[in-house]
Amino acid sequence: MRLVVASNRLPVVLTPKPGKGWSVEPAAGGLVTAMEPAMRRGGGVWVGWSGAPAVGQPELQRALGSELGERPYGMRAVRVEEAVHRRFYEGFSNQVLWPVLHGLPPSPAVDSLEWESYREVNRRFARALARIAGPNDLLWVHDYHLMLVADELRSLGMENRIVFFLHTPFPRLLELEKAPHHEALVRGLLSYDLVGFQTPRHESNFLEVVDAIGDRGVKGHRWASPKDRPERRRGRSGHFPISIDFEEFAEGAASSQVVERSTHLRRELNGRTLVLGVDRLDYTKGLPEKLHGFDRALHRFPELRGKVVLRQLVVPSREAVPAYVETKARVEELVSKINGEWGDGGWTPVDYRYERWEREELLAHYRIADAALVTPVNDGMNLVAKEFCAANGGSGVLILSAFAGAAGQLGHSALLVNPRDPESLAQAIRRACAMPAEERDARMTAARRSVRVSNVHRWVSSFLEAERRVTDPR
Ligand code: ADP
Ligand code: F6P
Repeated sequence: MRLVVASNRLPVVLTPKPGKGWSVEPAAGGLVTAMEPAMRRGGGVWVGWSGAPAVGQPELQRALGSELGERPYGMRAVRVEEAVHRRFYEGFSNQVLWPVLHGLPPSPAVDSLEWESYREVNRRFARALARIAGPNDLLWVHDYHLMLVADELRSLGMENRIVFFLHTPFPRLLELEKAPHHEALVRGLLSYDLVGFQTPRHESNFLEVVDAIGDRGVKGHRWASPKDRPERRRGRSGHFPISIDFEEFAEGAASSQVVERSTHLRRELNGRTLVLGVDRLDYTKGLPEKLHGFDRALHRFPELRGKVVLRQLVVPSREAVPAYVETKARVEELVSKINGEWGDGGWTPVDYRYERWEREELLAHYRIADAALVTPVNDGMNLVAKEFCAANGGSGVLILSAFAGAAGQLGHSALLVNPRDPESLAQAIRRACAMPAEERDARMTAARRSVRVSNVHRWVSSFLEAERRVTDPR
């Protein structure tokens, strides 16, 4: 069986260079971090958007081909005109679905053109998959951008197994209903043979919605297509908490370049405690909430002043979507306020970086951080939390939002916080800074063990194992 994976983004982003040729960068985000090592191990083909404008298909394919190098898997770009892709990606996917899946209202600025583009791009993906897939291939579609692909593939007569994994949360019916066309989207999901979620809660929210929409018989985690459909299929859901390639992060963080860089970083800190934040710029990541919590900690606990630095990496993301521009402005305003109020000539409390780091730089920071502050207001999983545990060279303390999917696995070893309560954050920051070495060690050892065992390869196996257990009525 060959695996054919489809996701909006390919693991690389192509940008045309002035003149001729392409610059190629790794794509940022949890989906790529998890799936890339899985594809390296298992091989197959990855179908997605290259990030590039829709130039000729042969030119894109050549650029991707030259990027393949040692990768044991193929990449195929799906070609979509810029205007359609913009309405699909910046419009329906990221101004309707993304907020609604995270329990927030959709943007009112989006209308039926965006929905049409969403359907169109799903159709294009389906056609691309139908061209590539052989009869025994397993088609594994990822994330909220592509909920309708199985439906489209079935109308093209494809009989393959088609499975889906949602990387984001799935909300209660009351919240989902705020998305226009939510019923069509849920019906689209029911055309998959298996639909996977990050946590039991997201799965049970989904089953509640399916029950309410009501034209499929749901029993436990299974459903059947309505009786009036010519072809009856059965499907099921499950929860599969995603993870990282533990060894890749642990070994990478112990490499000589990373050790050398981290020694340098440590020296620069001049004995101060490093609290690290690494987030894509996104209003779900709780960045203003984190800054309010840090500010509160400096107010409440004078012993932290001059002694602690919050180094916050913010990775640029979805910069054309207005809510992201607003979040950036809000974050930057808070950073200057905190630095203006508390900082002095020799100490800048918040060391804010709006940039992308190379993997080595990220690992060097994970390695030396005394604590990581991971405070999303709602997050499917949050792989940064797991990366910190895998790469930390000592016994850093993980301060983790109770609303991250990762809390289900790491809640016992982390300090769990409510990011909307600055006092809860402030107390956790102080506790992390003052925690005795023995307790830090015990917590970090337990967290590392858990991430090592429940790694991304195990996640893939459990998902594929569940796929094999779906009964096929054909
Ligand atoms: P999300 O998928 O919402 O972005 P996650 O926390 O699950 O959230 O994943 C973020 C991923 O992006 C992590 O794997 C992190 O290492 C990765 N990342 C962070 N900074 C960069 C960067 N500069 N370049 C590439 N990947 C990055
Ligand atoms: O589920 C989170 C997600 O949408 C992933 O698809 C991706 O890993 C990440 O966010 C980055 O987002 P984008 O592809 O929009 O840059």
